[in-house]
Amino acid sequence: MDEERIISASEQNNDKTWDLTLRPQTLDEYIGQTKIKANLDIVLRAAKERKEAVDHVLLFGPPGLGKTTLAHIIAKEMGVGIKVTSGPAISKAGDLAAIITNLQDGDILFIDEIHRLNKTIEEILYPAMEDFALDIILGKGPSAQILRLDLPRFTIIGATTRYNLISSPLRDRFGVTFRLNFYDHDELADIVKRSADILAVPIEGQAQMEIASRSRATPRIANRILKRVRDYAQVKAGGDVSLDVTKKALNLMAIDKHGLDDLDRKLLKVLVENFAGGPVGIGTLAAALQEESGTIEEIFEPYLMQLGFLSRTSKGRVATEKTYEYLEATKNQEKEQNQLF
Ligand SMILES: Nc1ncnc2c1ncn2[C@@H]1O[C@H](COP(=O)(O)OP(=O)(O)O)[C@@H](O)[C@H]1O
Ligand SMILES: [Mg+2]
Repeated sequence: MDEERIISASEQNNDKTWDLTLRPQTLDEYIGQTKIKANLDIVLRAAKERKEAVDHVLLFGPPGLGKTTLAHIIAKEMGVGIKVTSGPAISKAGDLAAIITNLQDGDILFIDEIHRLNKTIEEILYPAMEDFALDIILGKGPSAQILRLDLPRFTIIGATTRYNLISSPLRDRFGVTFRLNFYDHDELADIVKRSADILAVPIEGQAQMEIASRSRATPRIANRILKRVRDYAQVKAGGDVSLDVTKKALNLMAIDKHGLDDLDRKLLKVLVENFAGGPVGIGTLAAALQEESGTIEEIFEPYLMQLGFLSRTSKGRVATEKTYEYLEATKNQEKEQNQLF
């Protein structure tokens, strides 16, 4: 269900080509995440000066905040090659060996969804990350021999939306770990402006801000909404993206001023109406919504918690005062709208 939502932070199929044009290429172009940028700038300069490969970097945070983008920027800033793979794509030791042995000194291996690596592969990675060596077992039984292959000095950049699913020995092997934060409205408005400039979409400042405030603090969603608003403006308003046009387009998509859509509202309603505001376990909540609990944890909850509309306790998910206020306000709005027709 989440795949079709305009405000899903997960990557959707038609995001890919779009991404190629909009993705920032350098640290300077990368908007927001100022602390990460400042730290990364030092890490990269130091590695460059020493003519060494960058330390292994672990990036974590909700989908759509710029992890993949940052990995490509690091490669570009260092002037090295980057190979892209993902946890679930590496199923056999041979897959990993084939990738790593083909890297050049200093190259980056980007492993997306690194929390989904299987245990065997993880264990092969440890010496690869630490000693730049790969232990290959030849033969079986008592005559088996271990062959140690020297590897180029490479950098692993791991990305994950689920930090707690990464085993601690793997975590420990990353020299640098960055947690990406949600973006504030000003930063998102800058991202919308930048994207609109690249796409040559004429857009008012207030319209940029409106998109920013309804994008769930997530650049991927801001860009996706911009695209939909552009379409709307083209068909209904001769192309100019004004505040009025933007509001109409967003209302048509049923995205409210907080960036929440019908599915979010359904989650909050179920929490309040079926479970008396909680605490309710994630499994029970997921079953009531007919969603996977992983989807709820990864896609819905981080932003709802950021808004203060939901809290996680050891006993389960709980509605907050704000949840009730929000649902009350939505109810009134729906009433008003119904009276209009
Ligand atoms: N800091 C940023 N500044 C400008 N655009 C960004 C930034 N972070 C992300 N984006 C945009 O959002 C899109 C999604 O980012 P991506 O790196 O794919 O997210 P993630 O890998 O964390 O899911 C990118 O294609 C890019 O256009
Ligand atoms: Mg990504």
